[in-house]
Amino acid sequence: MQSNKFSTLFIGQKLIHLTEVDSTNSFLKNLISNSEPLPEGSVIMADAQLAGRGQANNVWHAEPGKNLTFSILLKPTFLTVEQQFNLNIAVSVAIQNTLKKYKKEGFSIKWPNDIYYNDKKIGGILIENILHGNIYKSAIVGIGLNVNQVKFNTEVEDKASSICRILGEELDLQTLLGQIFTELEVAYLQLMQGKYQILLQNYLASLYKLNIISTFRENENYFEGKIIGITKFGQLIVSTNDEDRIFNFKQIEFINSKK
Ligand code: BTN
Repeated sequence: MQSNKFSTLFIGQKLIHLTEVDSTNSFLKNLISNSEPLPEGSVIMADAQLAGRGQANNVWHAEPGKNLTFSILLKPTFLTVEQQFNLNIAVSVAIQNTLKKYKKEGFSIKWPNDIYYNDKKIGGILIENILHGNIYKSAIVGIGLNVNQVKFNTEVEDKASSICRILGEELDLQTLLGQIFTELEVAYLQLMQGKYQILLQNYLASLYKLNIISTFRENENYFEGKIIGITKFGQLIVSTNDEDRIFNFKQIEFINSKK
């Protein structure tokens, strides 16, 4: 365990920096189930993940040493299980607030919590909640951000980008990490104080294609509509000609947009 000089109260004050690991989320999950409890805000970061995990059992690829791949332990016991999407909102908003300091326009949140720049993905968030019955015990917040990587596999080349590509210069990973910790702590303290509406407003202000007519696919069915918000459980609300419809994660896919 190493101590750090991040200017935060608790996020990142305990940090384990690994050269290589299967997945920082899995490592942190094993650590808390097998050893003495870690303090809230503890972070596992890795230069390379051999089996990085994404949403919906996808694999998370990141070139070793060039990107940020880390997991934070949080204990949002002040939220009910029904309120858990508010943590996704707080984390997404914190990442946006960090990135917008580098460039005002272009960064967004693609529902539920992909990190986008224009139409390309530059990062993602994988939150794994640990519930004890009806009590929200802890959350492992995994964040992957493409920072200094400039080459991507041909399959993702047209869909992925990185901060270095966007800004045209490399960033110091440790500095960026510290900035994320600071913004995350601010958003998390807002969450603790029950400021859900403020966080939701900020989330919606950054939401990809909000109020823009777009094409979606549900199973084999293509339809047009526009995202008008999310429910309190984090489901997507899409307004179509006929009605407002509500979708769960992976029930709907974005196809493209129409001006
Ligand atoms: C997604 O967009 O599908 C979520 C990607 C989350 C990737 C991060 S990298 C650090 C942490 N450890 C993992 O195995 N996954 C998350």
